Amino acid sequence: MAISKIKTANDLRKAWCDFFTKKNHCIIDSASLIPENDPTVLFTTAGMHPLVPYLMGQKHPNGKRLANVQKCVRTGDIDEVGDHSHCTFFEMLGNWSLGDYFKEQSIEYSFEFLTAVLGFKINQLAVSVFAGDEDAPKDKESAKVWEKLGIPKENIFYLPKANNWWGPAGLTGPCGPDTEIFLDNGLDKCGVNCSPACDCGKYLEIWNNVFMQYNKTTRGEFEPLIQKNVDTGMGLERTLAVLNGVKSVYETDVYENGLKKILELTNLKYGVDVSVDKSIRVVLDHIRTAVFMIGDRQGIVPSNIERGYVLRRLLRRAIRYSKKLKLPSNSLSKIALEFVNKYSVAYPELLDNKQKILQEIDGEESKFARTIFTGLTQFDKLVSYLQGDVISGKAAFKLYDTYGFPLEMTQELANERGLSVHIEDYNKCFLQHQAKSQTGAEQKFKGGLQDNSDATTNLHTATHLLHSALKVVLNDANVNQKGSNITAERLRFDFNFSRPLTDVELSDVQKKVNEAISANVPIECSEMSVEQAKAIGAVGLFSDKYDDKVKVYSMGPFSLEICGGPHAKMTGDLGVFEIIKEQSSSAGVRRIKAVLKNGC
Ligand code: SER
Repeated sequence: MAISKIKTANDLRKAWCDFFTKKNHCIIDSASLIPENDPTVLFTTAGMHPLVPYLMGQKHPNGKRLANVQKCVRTGDIDEVGDHSHCTFFEMLGNWSLGDYFKEQSIEYSFEFLTAVLGFKINQLAVSVFAGDEDAPKDKESAKVWEKLGIPKENIFYLPKANNWWGPAGLTGPCGPDTEIFLDNGLDKCGVNCSPACDCGKYLEIWNNVFMQYNKTTRGEFEPLIQKNVDTGMGLERTLAVLNGVKSVYETDVYENGLKKILELTNLKYGVDVSVDKSIRVVLDHIRTAVFMIGDRQGIVPSNIERGYVLRRLLRRAIRYSKKLKLPSNSLSKIALEFVNKYSVAYPELLDNKQKILQEIDGEESKFARTIFTGLTQFDKLVSYLQGDVISGKAAFKLYDTYGFPLEMTQELANERGLSVHIEDYNKCFLQHQAKSQTGAEQKFKGGLQDNSDATTNLHTATHLLHSALKVVLNDANVNQKGSNITAERLRFDFNFSRPLTDVELSDVQKKVNEAISANVPIECSEMSVEQAKAIGAVGLFSDKYDDKVKVYSMGPFSLEICGGPHAKMTGDLGVFEIIKEQSSSAGVRRIKAVLKNGC
């Protein structure tokens, strides 16, 4: 363990900002968790997101050296949450050089912070560097700097792209090789090939220094950026755990009061039963994330699409685990309040939005309680007619599909009564249903195309660009397609928005679409799972309606959307985009009619 006075999140944030201020960095605010001008991701997953234009060469108003503490959400590892180190929300300590210092100085800063400020010893550190491949050379330069600083050769590991390359955050954008810093907990190596790449537990990654010198294009090529940047990220919670000598991030001060509240409300003890601990951690993690999503300055609320859907899933998962812990009804907002208070100094927006946070969480819990109540009534009815001791897959699926009653609950209740559920049949029903819905969803995402002529195909392609442009110009990621109808002459696009658009907004939207057309980028289609599509921030209706694989169409940095097609090949094929009318369609829904001129 390090010998350091830094024990709490406040201490660590302060030490970080003080250190980089002394190194002439400007400390910038944490950006919103909801990316403002980046349609390629659902949530801010790293401090570099809002900095993409500056990594690409634009001048940052605060100079070339920046640092901050960034709120991040990553839900890709949600199933891992409950172990000692995974969280869906975390804070990232970051420092950047925008075309200023590069590898040597970046590594020196990291080394100084770790040893002189945090008090780690050289023999506690191990590092990895990029092994090189056809896209970029072996990173001997970083290895040399580490050696010069005293890291023994055997603690410097050359690893491939899978381990030592970061980005781009979406499909395209800045990226590069990285050097990662690990704390070696002194355990024996698990084998001759033991390295930071294995998950035996010897090495804990705490910091990642990315040397962003490439831009990944839509063609999958890595072109050099006009400037060489540094983008580093250190996990605040993980580092705190090590500084406190505890095994789990859940034992650091950020969770302390939330944990106490759960124990007080349940009379349970932490650290006695593994499965109870896991449920406690899931509730803590998901509620903390929900607090930050709702309490953000661009806060969101639970819904059935996109970000709101991610939030709803987190809350419903937290509710399910809270039932396992036998937390009394409407406890989640009480736990949420502990997080609001804990973070109120570092993130005052949580205090400003306190009522909203507590109300939304309570509301979702009550709503889900009603779902469960109806489901339970239906379950009892089902059991009263049951012959034998197996609940059919079809009946379990009906409970899920019609009443929203989760399969796990049906199984738990069945177990309690000495019954079982026919899972294979349940899965069959599920797949059949998905196949049907997929056809529906593809129809929907065909965007109301009445034929597949070039004219309609181009107009349909333009709706993708219009969709993204509306999100950007209206600065509202929750603006979404509500309907689309296309004839050979015009497109008609409906979207949720509460007021008429101003002339300036309409002209900006039109301009944005035409910029994307002028950029003449290729329109590419990739097939992937819905999860992957979500992870890369594709726009879509993320209700449960998609099949396993979906098509995602990308148009450079301008659009990323799940769709059934067909589309033009290049954005330049579209001609000139012109909005001819903006009007109301129904309550809270606006309608734009637009045409393409001189399109092929
Ligand atoms: N972008 C890199 C990461 O997320 C470094 O900040 O790890």
